[in-house]
Amino acid sequence: MNEIILAIESSCDDTSIAIMQQRKVLANVTANQQIHAEYGGVVPEFASRAHQQNIVPIISKALALAKIEISQVDAIAFTAGPGLLGSLLVGTSFAKSLSLALNKPLIEVNHMQAHILAHLIENEEGKYPNFPFLCLTVSGGHSQIVKVNSPYDFELMGETLDDAAGEAFDKAGKIMGLEYPAGPIIDKLAQDGNPLSFKFAKPKVPGYSYSFSGLKTSILYFLQKQVALNPNFVAENLHDLAASIQKTIIDILLENLTKVAKDLNIKEIAIAGGVSANSALRKALREKKESLNWEVFIPEMQYCTDNGGMIGIAAYYKYLVQDFADLSTLAQARKPVNAF
Ligand code: KG4
Ligand code: ZN
Repeated sequence: MNEIILAIESSCDDTSIAIMQQRKVLANVTANQQIHAEYGGVVPEFASRAHQQNIVPIISKALALAKIEISQVDAIAFTAGPGLLGSLLVGTSFAKSLSLALNKPLIEVNHMQAHILAHLIENEEGKYPNFPFLCLTVSGGHSQIVKVNSPYDFELMGETLDDAAGEAFDKAGKIMGLEYPAGPIIDKLAQDGNPLSFKFAKPKVPGYSYSFSGLKTSILYFLQKQVALNPNFVAENLHDLAASIQKTIIDILLENLTKVAKDLNIKEIAIAGGVSANSALRKALREKKESLNWEVFIPEMQYCTDNGGMIGIAAYYKYLVQDFADLSTLAQARKPVNAF
């Protein structure tokens, strides 16, 4: 078998297309949308419009890079959800049309499963997690701990009750006057800051759930109080604030992950999603590797954030079992991790 799959990701603000040959990514091309920065968050209407603009040129670019003719494509894959409905509709409609025009099967992919399965994309070291493994998926839209039994079997162990971890970074940054998305900026500022300078309350939530909305409120109240005393407080303490906020978010994330790993006796631990780019989170995980004997898996940066490659690998496993969608399939803004 030598299947070529064209994979379309359009769930949020990035249009990303991959050309896959089995588990190998031949090309992975992403068009980022800069427009959202000036609005402090993703504007759904703009995102859909940009997908419309980008999708054809990005597909052409990906095919050219992969040196693949469109006639060689064996299946068309697309993100069916979860995500912003308007954005999903662009990818879904395009994928359906292409499948119809080329007379090739259509494969619908769950975005959250795809983030996880990105760990199975062929890599140079040939290093892949063994089943069952745990995956902490942390992005601007999600924070989940998933037990992955196979490429077809996902068990949600815990997820956020309110804001996602990436959202916590972005909202904290907004309060501090940073640009959107603030996650990478906080990461950078924190490198010259003391993470023990300020203490923020950690949430009390049942089981393995997460909650980040309280943290945002406590940062807001704390800063309002300090700025009333010293209008330059944020500027004078930027690095220490960034480091302290970052440490609080990472501590919250790792506390539950460590609990689940211990309770299920699983030592194969993976992270996925945009926040897995965070250098302090990566460092904290490497420390866990030493202290708890974890085997830690962090995907290549281009497969951490939303990308076509992860849709392509998830689609490949569905192709193997001929799990194809029909043309009546619908994009779904909400889709649990264990739903196909
Ligand atoms: O997975 P992603 O690209 O898009 C979705 O939300 O699906 O994740 C984007 C999120 C944003 O909230 C961004 O602030 C966060 O990932 N992020 C980071 C870092 N890089 C991206 N957060 C903390 N540290 C980073 N280095
Ligand atoms: Zn995502």
